[in-house]
Amino acid sequence: MNVLLLENIHPLAKEIFEMEGFNVELLSESLSQDKLIEKLRGVQILGIRSKTQIDESIFKKSESLLALGCFCIGTNQVNLEAAKQRGVAVFNAPFGNTRSVAEMIIAEIISLSRKLGQRNMEMHTKTWKKTAESCYEIRGKTIGIIGYGNIGTQVGTMAESLGMHVLFYDIVPKLPRGNARNCNTINEVLKNSDFVTLHVPATPQTRLMMSEPQLLSMKAGSYLLNASRGNVVDVAALAKAIKSKHLAGAAVDVFPNEPEQNTNSFSSDLQGLPNVILTPHIGGGTEEAQSNIGQEVPVTLIRYIKNGSTNHSVNFPEVDLPKAANRHRILNIHKNVPGVLSEINRIISELGANIEAEALATDNEIGYLLLDTDKAISQEVKTAIESLKTSIKTRILG
Ligand code: NAI
Repeated sequence: MNVLLLENIHPLAKEIFEMEGFNVELLSESLSQDKLIEKLRGVQILGIRSKTQIDESIFKKSESLLALGCFCIGTNQVNLEAAKQRGVAVFNAPFGNTRSVAEMIIAEIISLSRKLGQRNMEMHTKTWKKTAESCYEIRGKTIGIIGYGNIGTQVGTMAESLGMHVLFYDIVPKLPRGNARNCNTINEVLKNSDFVTLHVPATPQTRLMMSEPQLLSMKAGSYLLNASRGNVVDVAALAKAIKSKHLAGAAVDVFPNEPEQNTNSFSSDLQGLPNVILTPHIGGGTEEAQSNIGQEVPVTLIRYIKNGSTNHSVNFPEVDLPKAANRHRILNIHKNVPGVLSEINRIISELGANIEAEALATDNEIGYLLLDTDKAISQEVKTAIESLKTSIKTRILG
């Protein structure tokens, strides 16, 4: 089996795949669509980070592809629906850089509150401005977390341990950690927080969720932090809110148009504004996070390839079934339409196959079926199931 890893994925990933007998090509850059399609010939596993855009045409033209690993948290660079329709399971690294993002947010809250970025710039331009004016401790202040998932909860726990009050808003009911308080609306968080930090995914609902009206709903003199995705905030409106001094500053790590490469220049309406910390999408960028992700994603991909387990897949129904050594396992991804299972059962019964273990999970579009059967008959069963019109991809594991 062949693995193609793009975008300078941590070398640990290559080592793990090679230890499991895969051939691995590791490239430092992202590839254009045409080059990627060319490179994907004969490749079963593709690994990317956040730059490579994977649309429907790539899945259409890459017949051999079985699985895609996003060595990051966000998966909005991939057309997940198209991947599913073509039978390609997609996995990400949901926890690898959680701690790194949370630590950066805490550092930025203190930096904004003490105007460290501002003082640092002044010192570098030969200005000595020793002042306590408008500089505050964060103890006793309120942090408002929008999106109380892996990162949001971690930020809340750390903020509380520093003596902050924690408010949060999430569209899904969440158990509050510690003394955190759940708010029923975003507005309740915005009105009552000294620091608002965003930890939502990029979805149609979160696009521009912080526009002028929401920014104006924030407390006067409060701060906004965005290390989620660039399109969540209306950058021009944020610049306006800072220029008008309604907000006392901001920390922004993600932008609507991020440069493809480190050599490209970058411009934003936020440049040059007072007490605004700008960072180049490095929230999850630590050696520890890269190494965690370099291990986390290959392990889930290898389990999918060798065992069929779709645990933690972001686009497939989840199935996990322990595999017996003396059986062959047939993996069938099919369109979830009426009659498909009776057709598969007909094949099994006509061929007289003995099914030792079976697991099925479905969603609205697809069904994913694992069948453990006798080695003697498995190839025939697989071929017959594969030829059904409803089958998308069918594999057999020895
Ligand atoms: P997660 O999936 O654990 O949490 C996201 C939370 O947002 C969930 O609880 C979800 O219910 C909630 N949510 C979704 N839509 C919402 C809405 N409209 N309003 C309120 N809440 C909503 O994800 P995690 O791991 O906490 O990451 C959050 C985001 O951070 C990622 O999607 C990614 O875009 C970004 N990220 C940025 C990094 C960086 O380097 N700056 C690194 C890692 C992640």
